[in-house]
Amino acid sequence: MCGIVGYVGKNKAAPLILEGLKRLEYRGYDSAGVAVWQDGGFTVAKKIGRVANLEPEVAKLRLSSSYGMGHTRWATHGGVTDANAHPHVSSDGKIALIHNGVIENYASIKKFLAAKGYTFKSETDTEVLCNAIAYHYAKEPAPGDPTESRFVTAVRKTLRHAEGTYGIVVMAVDAPGELVTARKGSPLILGIGDGESLVASDVAAIVSRTQNVVYLKDGEVAHLTPKNFTITTLAAADVSPVIDKVTWSISDAELNGYAHFMEKEIFEQPQALENTMRGRFSEDGSTAQFGGLNISANEFRSYERFQFLACGTALHACMVTEHLIERFARVPVECDYASEFRYRNTPLDPNTLFFTMSQSGETIDTLAAMREAKRKGYKVLAVNNVVGSTIAREADGGIYQHVGPEVGVASTKAFTSQLLIGAMLALYIGRMRDLSFSDGTEIVQALKGAPDLVRTALKQADHIRGIARRYAHHRDMLFLGRMTLFPVALEGALKLKEISYIHAEGYPAAEMKHGPIALISEHCPSVFFVSSGEMFNKVVSSMQEIKARKGQIIAVCTDGCKLPEGLADEVIPIPECHEAVLPIVATIPVQLLSYYIAVELGRDVDKPRNLAKSVTVE
Ligand code: F6R
Repeated sequence: MCGIVGYVGKNKAAPLILEGLKRLEYRGYDSAGVAVWQDGGFTVAKKIGRVANLEPEVAKLRLSSSYGMGHTRWATHGGVTDANAHPHVSSDGKIALIHNGVIENYASIKKFLAAKGYTFKSETDTEVLCNAIAYHYAKEPAPGDPTESRFVTAVRKTLRHAEGTYGIVVMAVDAPGELVTARKGSPLILGIGDGESLVASDVAAIVSRTQNVVYLKDGEVAHLTPKNFTITTLAAADVSPVIDKVTWSISDAELNGYAHFMEKEIFEQPQALENTMRGRFSEDGSTAQFGGLNISANEFRSYERFQFLACGTALHACMVTEHLIERFARVPVECDYASEFRYRNTPLDPNTLFFTMSQSGETIDTLAAMREAKRKGYKVLAVNNVVGSTIAREADGGIYQHVGPEVGVASTKAFTSQLLIGAMLALYIGRMRDLSFSDGTEIVQALKGAPDLVRTALKQADHIRGIARRYAHHRDMLFLGRMTLFPVALEGALKLKEISYIHAEGYPAAEMKHGPIALISEHCPSVFFVSSGEMFNKVVSSMQEIKARKGQIIAVCTDGCKLPEGLADEVIPIPECHEAVLPIVATIPVQLLSYYIAVELGRDVDKPRNLAKSVTVE
């Protein structure tokens, strides 16, 4: 949610922190702030709006310190104001803090601290936590104690009383060159550089300095100095850290000539799909194989149900996967919003295998639902893009997407990669059951051809940009499809509303007549997904119902469809393809349509209002 970066080293901290914050801005962009240790105290600059608003403030301060931290905020407690922006400094001036998460019992802690004379300038739970650390820091019996342990101890003591979630970085005024950082429910990664140490909520802020990283776990507290780092638990037990190597480089997280990350990521999809499927087909070319499932083929075969949990775009990918597994493997599949599943206490078949899908691997609703399933004794496999993310680490096994960093807030390449993994899973499970060798090889061939079909679909970009110009002024739009194209319709509507702020709804095409048809007029166009095959005539009937009510129609249509003359106002052709690949290819036009409409309307495509890339609060 919020972006966090901390630096202790030999270089000037402020420019490095600002660079890191820019790379993290997609995580939250209500306000931003920096604190450095300088001349025996903290120098703090914070400002509502983007990191670009903060830069001149920081420049004025001429900061030379090499210790500091910065934050981009996605507001939870308290409005978007300079005062509520992070970092916060305790009222005794001793502690500075940045925080991602929510401290649920902040009100009682605040009351306690107020009675002790601590004062508050903001409405945030973070300032309360900051003063609580200052309180414990002041109370420690200092004589004989090294400053370092006093600092770490104060953070530990505070966190033992904190309910909720946090990823924090703390500085103490009498501990220059030291950062203390801790997490529960919010990701934090340590960067181990040459004479410098970093901490960030995302590798994107670290990777320009070092590729050696340590993924901090829940309940761990790290102490960083330029040349050293130690990790302990909240109970003060030592932890032996594992240093991982990040496999992507900084150019993966740069625009490389594109106007927006969303545009870059849309056009990266052929390569992203190739990366997702690399090495994942069996030698005989009839099924898929996955390295990290940690479940034998025999055990896999024994499951009689699959339950998928996810949020947002990832849930749409699960819905397509449900359809394909049921079709290829004839095993019942359920999909649920992770946030609903967690509290609904659904009766479950004991022979159920769970899957979660999450690009970030940090979405708190998905993580909590996974933990709930595991608590009930179920195995959970995770499909994630971010390597080492919390969900990936806590799952029993899983499948990495390997599509590189997705920076645009609106998910694009991660979605089509999830669709591909879903189709490969359906093939894998199908081939363990009744799906024949020849059906298997046909599906493998179709999936291998997906990158080229996506390249063909991308060639419609200019045509789609023209359509976008003609339709950008509308205030409502419907997206309608059937079977696997219904979740694609949901995804099209989600893409459009999140980046253009046009109200859009996705529906099964036939369901439209049970209510949404009331919205249809010349002011509410519909995007239809039309493919040749069993549903063609039925979808055409739905289109006719719209046309009869003066609704304009944009048809995303496979080449083989012969639409009645004049039925669609706009046609976006896509190549004919196998049903396992169709949802991937049909997604491309609606990604482009949403993107070009948002550009036409002058929206901030990569950082749409009120959103954040990974949602780590409930
Ligand atoms: C929409 C979008 C969100 C995410 C959702 C889950 O474009 O990106 O709907 O799909 O927040 O995120 P992950 O996949 O990281 O769990």
